Amino acid sequence: KKRIGILTSGGDCAGLNAAIRAVTRRAIDGFGWEVVGIRNGTLGLISEPIEAEILDKQTFSGVLLRQGGTFLGSSTKGDPFAFKMPDGSVKDRSMEFVEGFRSLNLDGLIGIGGDGSMKILNRLCELGDIPFIGIPKTIDNDVALTEFTIGFTTAVNVAVDALDRLLPTAASHHRVMVLEVMGRDAGHIALHAGIAGGADVILLPEIAYDMDKVAEKIRDVYENEKRSHALVVCSEAIKTSQGQTVMHANEEGKMNYGGVGHEIGGQIAKMTGADTRVTVLGHLQRGGTPAMRDRLIASAFGVRAVDLMAQGKTNCMVAWQHREVVDVPLDEVVKRYKKIDVTGTLVHTARGLGICLGD
Ligand code: F6P
Repeated sequence: KKRIGILTSGGDCAGLNAAIRAVTRRAIDGFGWEVVGIRNGTLGLISEPIEAEILDKQTFSGVLLRQGGTFLGSSTKGDPFAFKMPDGSVKDRSMEFVEGFRSLNLDGLIGIGGDGSMKILNRLCELGDIPFIGIPKTIDNDVALTEFTIGFTTAVNVAVDALDRLLPTAASHHRVMVLEVMGRDAGHIALHAGIAGGADVILLPEIAYDMDKVAEKIRDVYENEKRSHALVVCSEAIKTSQGQTVMHANEEGKMNYGGVGHEIGGQIAKMTGADTRVTVLGHLQRGGTPAMRDRLIASAFGVRAVDLMAQGKTNCMVAWQHREVVDVPLDEVVKRYKKIDVTGTLVHTARGLGICLGD
């Protein structure tokens, strides 16, 4: 009887529980295996005692499929190759991870993570000769070789909902509303939400913008469209008009984006005279009830990951391509980073709708 481990690593998103559920169901019903849920990402295997528990079908009473977050817990602090110790020093704890894995008598590991986690898990599993399969998740949708990652659709829905709520208040007060969305160095959330939510301007990390063009668009809306309100969506990683990204350190000293929307709003107000307000959507994008597509791909990914493990096809990542689940080599995934294709359909659509991309 095989015994496999499962963990969720990196920033959470909606749909992770659906993926854990699918792995557990397929492993138990399809193959009669045992599934061990590892707590708090890689941290669970390097903690003393190890934090892990057997998952059975009763764990998933039907509620978890509908819940955001990950009931196993996750961590963004868990790079065992460069582990930040409480005294501030950095220690390589990668062998502790491998030993933790071995002590649980596991035959393989399924890791649900974004591009950063895939890199770390890939290295750890190479080090320990651990059969590994990755499942891609992140609201940013920036993992290479998959059209969608778990959590992206829910995050976009949250951003579209925010625009739906901002529009009536913008119209009532004749204001420009700037909405800053997450996504790290890729503008997938901004572009999808901006088109679906009827934005007038979308600013993306992939396209250098010119504030004069943005101001011109706002003036055009006010003067020619006879509409005294406008919606602007900006990605968190765009540069300010002085060419800087706006970042802040979190409690572990990791630098994160956030806040550039205020600079954009300030510039718009100064250049157009429009009454302008800024909303930084932040972690709201990570929570909530998972959207249909996130539950669907999470389920398909989970089932396929177990099937691959059963076939002995490991060191790969499950991916969504052309309405199918496929598997792709992990070594290829970790070499790339998926940004917006500036010659692709969605950029063309935005331009066709008259949305200003600032260039
Ligand atoms: O990668 C997911 C993400 O939500 C990014 O969009 C964002 O830049 C970052 O994580 C925020 O990280 P943290 O949760 O550590 O603040």
